[in-house]
Amino acid sequence: MTTTPLLAFEALHYRYPGADAPALRGASLEVRAGEKIALMGRNGSGKSTLLLHGNGLLRPQQGVVRWQGEAIAYTRPALRALRNRVGLIFQNPDEQIFAPTLLQDLAFGPLNSGASEQEARQRAEWAAARCRIEHLLAQPPHALSGGQKLCAALAGVLAMRPTVLLADEVTSGLDPWMRRNVLSILDEHVAEGGAVVLSTHELDVARHWADKIALMEEGCVVHVAPPREFFASPAWRARIGADLWLFSDATPMHHAPRST
Ligand SMILES: Nc1ncnc2c1ncn2[C@@H]1O[C@H](COP(=O)(O)OP(=O)(O)O)[C@@H](O)[C@H]1O
Ligand SMILES: [Mg+2]
Repeated sequence: MTTTPLLAFEALHYRYPGADAPALRGASLEVRAGEKIALMGRNGSGKSTLLLHGNGLLRPQQGVVRWQGEAIAYTRPALRALRNRVGLIFQNPDEQIFAPTLLQDLAFGPLNSGASEQEARQRAEWAAARCRIEHLLAQPPHALSGGQKLCAALAGVLAMRPTVLLADEVTSGLDPWMRRNVLSILDEHVAEGGAVVLSTHELDVARHWADKIALMEEGCVVHVAPPREFFASPAWRARIGADLWLFSDATPMHHAPRST
């Protein structure tokens, strides 16, 4: 018996205003508690557009987004409630940070969703500790380094106590230590009953961190399977770009690379 997914994208179609071609053409994905999903696919395949539908920032022109089986509503209060359940972290953390201190920045979301000052502060401090940036709470957010800004954006979303985290290429461009840090923050979130969808081009993240890969092509999710299935099949490996991987011998493959 399968459980109802926390979040379900069902056959979504979306065309940006003025665009020639649709960005989503029937994209579907289910996200269950405890899942770590790597959302893969070439640039322009629709990953960011799909994630933007997850917390109602975009509204599908066809198809349905469901939270625990119920179609989400696009009223202000319903969207506010949804954003306490589904947190979205953008590719560019600068877009999310605007308060004079990190503490104020992290408390803004909870305050805005009706928490008391004290509660908002507690949640901000908790989220900062979770993201290992509690020593930066008095700093102005614009003074943080790139990696710290990303942790701040992550903490800002975690301060909302969402169950599902949608993270759009947040591990791209990080050094290996910071990347490990971010992945372990995501792991802690999942260990507490949450779920994470992480869009990424990083084959090693998809292979070793994720428990499922969802592959997008031309606005559709064409295949969802455990990483070992993707990597064991030459055809699927090629479709995630793994056969273009220059350093494939750095990680043992289940199958020997094809001879050239
Ligand atoms: N704001 C926008 N306006 C018009 N077209 C867009 C916009 N954002 C994305 N697109 C288009 O939608 C398609 C999917 O883009 P996107 O979801 O960003 O893909 P990905 O995140 O996989 O790179 C692409 O063809 C892209 O050019
Ligand atoms: Mg994108």
